[in-house]
Amino acid sequence: MFDEPGFPSDPDHDAAAPRLYTFVYCSRAADGVDDAEVDRLIQSAQRHNRTCGITGVLVFGSGVFFQWIEGPSADVLRLMASLHDDPRHYDIVSLDQREETRERLYPNWQMERVGADDIREVLQDALESAQDENNIAALRRILDHLASRSLGSLGRAN
Ligand SMILES: Cc1cc2nc3c(=O)[nH]c(=O)nc-3n(C[C@H](O)[C@H](O)[C@H](O)COP(=O)(O)O)c2cc1C
Repeated sequence: MFDEPGFPSDPDHDAAAPRLYTFVYCSRAADGVDDAEVDRLIQSAQRHNRTCGITGVLVFGSGVFFQWIEGPSADVLRLMASLHDDPRHYDIVSLDQREETRERLYPNWQMERVGADDIREVLQDALESAQDENNIAALRRILDHLASRSLGSLGRAN
Protein backbone atom coordinates (compact mmCIF):
# COMPACT_ATOMS: atom_id res chain seq x y z
CA MET A 1 0.00 0.00 0.00
CA PHE A 2 2.80 2.40 0.85
CA ASP A 3 4.18 1.91 -2.65
CA GLU A 4 1.01 3.20 -4.29
CA PRO A 5 1.19 6.65 -5.88
CA GLY A 6 0.28 9.27 -3.31
CA PHE A 7 1.44 7.14 -0.36
CA PRO A 8 5.01 8.08 0.53
CA SER A 9 6.96 5.14 1.89
CA ASP A 10 7.58 5.11 5.62
CA PRO A 11 11.37 5.25 6.19
CA ASP A 12 10.96 3.47 9.57
CA HIS A 13 9.02 0.59 8.04
CA ASP A 14 11.47 -2.12 6.98
CA ALA A 15 9.67 -4.20 4.36
CA ALA A 16 12.49 -6.76 4.48
CA ALA A 17 11.94 -7.68 8.15
CA PRO A 18 10.89 -11.34 8.40
CA ARG A 19 7.85 -12.81 10.10
CA LEU A 20 9.32 -14.53 13.17
CA TYR A 21 7.98 -16.77 15.90
CA THR A 22 9.70 -16.25 19.26
CA PHE A 23 9.68 -18.70 22.19
CA VAL A 24 11.39 -17.72 25.44
CA TYR A 25 11.37 -20.09 28.40
CA CYS A 26 13.27 -21.30 31.41
CA SER A 27 13.48 -24.86 32.78
CA ARG A 28 15.34 -27.05 35.26
CA ALA A 29 18.03 -29.43 34.03
CA ALA A 30 17.46 -33.11 34.77
CA ASP A 31 19.85 -35.01 37.04
CA GLY A 32 23.08 -35.81 35.23
CA VAL A 33 22.85 -32.96 32.72
CA ASP A 34 26.22 -31.26 33.12
CA ASP A 35 28.39 -28.83 31.14
CA ALA A 36 29.64 -31.54 28.78
CA GLU A 37 26.08 -32.69 28.02
CA VAL A 38 25.02 -29.09 27.36
CA ASP A 39 27.96 -28.62 24.97
CA ARG A 40 26.89 -31.75 23.05
CA LEU A 41 23.29 -30.55 23.03
CA ILE A 42 24.35 -27.13 21.66
CA GLN A 43 26.38 -28.70 18.86
CA SER A 44 23.49 -30.77 17.58
CA ALA A 45 21.05 -27.86 18.13
CA GLN A 46 23.27 -25.61 15.98
CA ARG A 47 23.34 -28.18 13.15
CA HIS A 48 19.57 -28.53 13.21
CA ASN A 49 18.84 -24.82 13.67
CA ARG A 50 21.04 -23.90 10.70
CA THR A 51 18.91 -26.08 8.41
CA CYS A 52 15.65 -24.39 9.41
CA GLY A 53 16.65 -20.78 10.11
CA ILE A 54 16.33 -20.83 13.90
CA THR A 55 18.61 -18.50 15.89
CA GLY A 56 18.91 -17.69 19.59
CA VAL A 57 20.74 -18.06 22.86
CA LEU A 58 20.88 -20.72 25.56
CA VAL A 59 21.98 -19.89 29.09
CA PHE A 60 22.85 -22.73 31.48
CA GLY A 61 23.80 -22.18 35.10
CA SER A 62 23.06 -23.74 38.50
CA GLY A 63 20.90 -26.38 36.88
CA VAL A 64 18.64 -23.83 35.17
CA PHE A 65 18.19 -23.28 31.44
CA PHE A 66 17.02 -20.05 29.86
CA GLN A 67 16.55 -20.06 26.09
CA TRP A 68 15.54 -17.49 23.49
CA ILE A 69 14.43 -19.09 20.20
CA GLU A 70 13.41 -17.18 17.05
CA GLY A 71 12.64 -18.41 13.54
CA PRO A 72 9.90 -19.43 11.10
CA SER A 73 6.76 -20.33 13.03
CA ALA A 74 6.37 -23.94 11.80
CA ASP A 75 9.98 -24.75 12.73
CA VAL A 76 9.82 -23.08 16.13
CA LEU A 77 6.53 -24.81 16.95
CA ARG A 78 8.06 -28.18 15.98
CA LEU A 79 11.08 -27.49 18.19
CA MET A 80 8.81 -26.48 21.07
CA ALA A 81 7.08 -29.87 20.86
CA SER A 82 10.48 -31.62 20.94
CA LEU A 83 11.59 -29.51 23.89
CA HIS A 84 8.49 -30.44 25.87
CA ASP A 85 9.28 -34.14 25.28
CA ASP A 86 12.99 -33.84 26.04
CA PRO A 87 13.92 -35.67 29.27
CA ARG A 88 17.05 -33.55 29.74
CA HIS A 89 14.97 -30.81 31.38
CA TYR A 90 11.64 -30.29 33.18
CA ASP A 91 9.51 -27.53 34.79
CA ILE A 92 9.44 -25.66 31.48
CA VAL A 93 8.00 -22.17 32.04
CA SER A 94 7.04 -20.23 28.94
CA LEU A 95 8.05 -16.60 29.45
CA ASP A 96 7.09 -15.30 26.05
CA GLN A 97 5.61 -16.74 22.91
CA ARG A 98 4.58 -14.59 19.97
CA GLU A 99 4.69 -14.14 16.21
CA GLU A 100 5.69 -10.74 14.85
CA THR A 101 7.41 -8.99 11.97
CA ARG A 102 10.80 -7.86 13.16
CA GLU A 103 14.52 -8.18 12.68
CA ARG A 104 16.22 -11.07 14.44
CA LEU A 105 17.77 -10.32 17.81
CA TYR A 106 20.53 -12.90 17.24
CA PRO A 107 20.95 -13.16 13.43
CA ASN A 108 24.36 -14.85 13.59
CA TRP A 109 23.81 -17.27 16.47
CA GLN A 110 22.37 -20.66 15.40
CA MET A 111 22.19 -21.26 19.17
CA GLU A 112 24.86 -19.61 21.24
CA ARG A 113 25.66 -20.69 24.76
CA VAL A 114 25.81 -17.61 27.01
CA GLY A 115 27.80 -17.45 30.26
CA ALA A 116 26.11 -18.76 33.40
CA ASP A 117 27.18 -15.67 35.32
CA ASP A 118 24.58 -13.72 33.37
CA ILE A 119 21.61 -15.97 34.16
CA ARG A 120 20.39 -14.06 37.24
CA GLU A 121 20.49 -10.80 35.32
CA VAL A 122 18.65 -12.37 32.36
CA LEU A 123 15.92 -13.78 34.67
CA GLN A 124 15.71 -10.54 36.67
CA ASP A 125 15.13 -8.62 33.43
CA ALA A 126 12.46 -11.15 32.43
CA LEU A 127 10.81 -10.71 35.87
CA GLU A 128 10.73 -6.93 35.52
CA SER A 129 8.86 -7.15 32.22
CA ALA A 130 6.66 -10.18 33.09
CA GLN A 131 2.89 -9.55 33.19
CA ASP A 132 1.47 -13.02 33.82
CA GLU A 133 1.06 -13.85 37.54
CA ASN A 134 2.06 -17.49 37.06
CA ASN A 135 5.21 -16.49 35.21
CA ILE A 136 6.06 -13.93 37.89
CA ALA A 137 5.67 -16.59 40.61
CA ALA A 138 7.70 -19.15 38.62
CA LEU A 139 10.49 -16.65 37.94
CA ARG A 140 10.63 -15.74 41.64
CA ARG A 141 10.90 -19.47 42.51
CA ILE A 142 13.77 -19.90 40.07
CA LEU A 143 15.55 -16.78 41.36
CA ASP A 144 15.10 -18.04 44.95
CA HIS A 145 16.51 -21.39 43.85
CA LEU A 146 19.55 -19.58 42.40
CA ALA A 147 19.94 -17.38 45.49
CA SER A 148 20.12 -20.45 47.71
CA ARG A 149 23.08 -21.85 45.81
CA SER A 150 26.73 -20.98 46.21
CA LEU A 151 28.56 -19.38 43.31
CA GLY A 152 30.86 -22.41 43.16
CA SER A 153 28.00 -24.60 42.00
CA LEU A 154 27.25 -22.54 38.90
CA GLY A 155 27.11 -24.71 35.81
CA ARG A 156 26.52 -27.96 37.68
CA ALA A 157 23.24 -29.81 37.27
CA ASN A 158 20.55 -29.22 39.94
C1 LIG B 1 17.59 -26.98 27.05
C2 LIG B 1 17.48 -27.57 25.67
C3 LIG B 1 17.60 -26.75 24.56
C4 LIG B 1 17.52 -27.28 23.27
N1 LIG B 1 17.62 -26.45 22.20
C5 LIG B 1 17.52 -26.97 20.96
C6 LIG B 1 17.61 -26.13 19.81
O1 LIG B 1 17.81 -24.92 19.87
N2 LIG B 1 17.49 -26.73 18.59
C7 LIG B 1 17.31 -28.07 18.44
O2 LIG B 1 17.22 -28.56 17.31
N3 LIG B 1 17.22 -28.88 19.51
C8 LIG B 1 17.32 -28.37 20.76
N4 LIG B 1 17.22 -29.19 21.84
C9 LIG B 1 17.01 -30.62 21.61
C10 LIG B 1 15.55 -30.93 21.31
O3 LIG B 1 14.82 -30.98 22.52
C11 LIG B 1 15.43 -32.29 20.58
O4 LIG B 1 16.14 -33.26 21.26
C12 LIG B 1 15.98 -32.21 19.16
O5 LIG B 1 15.41 -31.12 18.48
C13 LIG B 1 15.63 -33.50 18.39
O6 LIG B 1 14.27 -33.65 18.43
P1 LIG B 1 13.50 -34.88 17.76
O7 LIG B 1 14.09 -36.11 18.40
O8 LIG B 1 12.05 -34.65 18.11
O9 LIG B 1 13.79 -34.78 16.29
C14 LIG B 1 17.31 -28.67 23.12
C15 LIG B 1 17.18 -29.49 24.25
C16 LIG B 1 17.26 -28.95 25.52
C17 LIG B 1 17.13 -29.83 26.72
